[in-house]
Amino acid sequence: MTNSLVFKKAKTHLVGGVNSPVRSFKYVGTAPLLIKRGKGPRVYDYDGNSYIDYVLSYGVSILGHAHPGVVRSLKNTLEHGAGFGATNSREVELAGLIKKADPVIEKLRFVNSGTEAVLGATRLAKACTGRDKIIKFRNSYHGHADYLLEEIDKGSAEGIFKKHGSRIAGVIVEPVGGNCGVRLPDKDFLKYLRRITRKYGSLLIFDEVITGFRFKFGSVSDILGVKPDLICLGKIIGGGLPIGAYGGKARIMNKLAPLGDLYQGSTFAGNPIVMQSGIATLKVLSSSKNRYSSLEKKAKKLTDAIKKERDDLQVIHYKTIFSLRFRKKAHFQSFYKKLLKKGIYLAPSENEANFISFSHTEKDIDKTIDAVKNVLREI
Ligand SMILES: Cc1ncc(COP(=O)(O)O)c(C=O)c1O
Repeated sequence: MTNSLVFKKAKTHLVGGVNSPVRSFKYVGTAPLLIKRGKGPRVYDYDGNSYIDYVLSYGVSILGHAHPGVVRSLKNTLEHGAGFGATNSREVELAGLIKKADPVIEKLRFVNSGTEAVLGATRLAKACTGRDKIIKFRNSYHGHADYLLEEIDKGSAEGIFKKHGSRIAGVIVEPVGGNCGVRLPDKDFLKYLRRITRKYGSLLIFDEVITGFRFKFGSVSDILGVKPDLICLGKIIGGGLPIGAYGGKARIMNKLAPLGDLYQGSTFAGNPIVMQSGIATLKVLSSSKNRYSSLEKKAKKLTDAIKKERDDLQVIHYKTIFSLRFRKKAHFQSFYKKLLKKGIYLAPSENEANFISFSHTEKDIDKTIDAVKNVLREI
């Protein structure tokens, strides 16, 4: 199978040949990268080309691809059956690891994606408060449920609360923005949200689907010094397999059935293979706690080098993630295509974040810097 053959067939069976729009590479105006396999910081296409990967499954694979310890433990787990729809000790262990890392979470519920985590948390906010409105902000993304695609500007929060305060069940926010390029955290605004939600009896929900376990072993709310009522997690905690989770104070979480009235069920939630993948990943991460600073250093080295190159290229960097935006989209497109040819795989949109993994080496970073510099000279 070659890249073009796989994509030709994909288009006959899948809508647009993809299962998620960004994978079509429409934004960058070129044929999409089709990935056959990955190992460490590299992915390989069907034509046998290799790429240094800064997409990492959109922020999932913080250890790099096919980490040997995670693969081994998944193989062992699979020998005993793929799932039973019943409580298992792995759910308990993963929940315990997450709770230990995240003091805001007293109880949690696993689901199968970030979208579901957000859905669960917002439904719970409505059930807890008996109210019907959820506020989200422009330029953030919380999954594809219709009502979560409605949004307001940061500046309108005060007015909305004044007008609808008694109907607002919750406010959901990405504490560090990762879906309109990287947006640096605004601590004062987050603190303001904490105050105003308390004042009006609404819940504050942090969507940490990207940020959870990305900058430290735990959530970024800890770093920012703002305690939300509920936290949504996903991506990293599943070690590469589909997962989501939402959690918070027990008195809030206990509104969920079977303890409370709010029904929320799932066939696959807590699946033992997924749980084991999360456990194996978080165990490696917990022993690498101090090495988060090494990730930061690599991201800083890479972004500092790129920042120097051009005035019309904006590089936004926060700890271990970064995004790039050119003044002209066409420049991003040609930059992107040329870089891909040189074996560097960045997020195929200026609105998506790029990520560094523990598997990226200094050599990978140096190679990327060289490639970026060369390409920037050409466009
Ligand atoms: C902040 C945030 N919330 C929610 C989601 C939805 O997660 P999923 O794609 O796992 O449904 C995403 C996806 O990228 C995200 O970035």
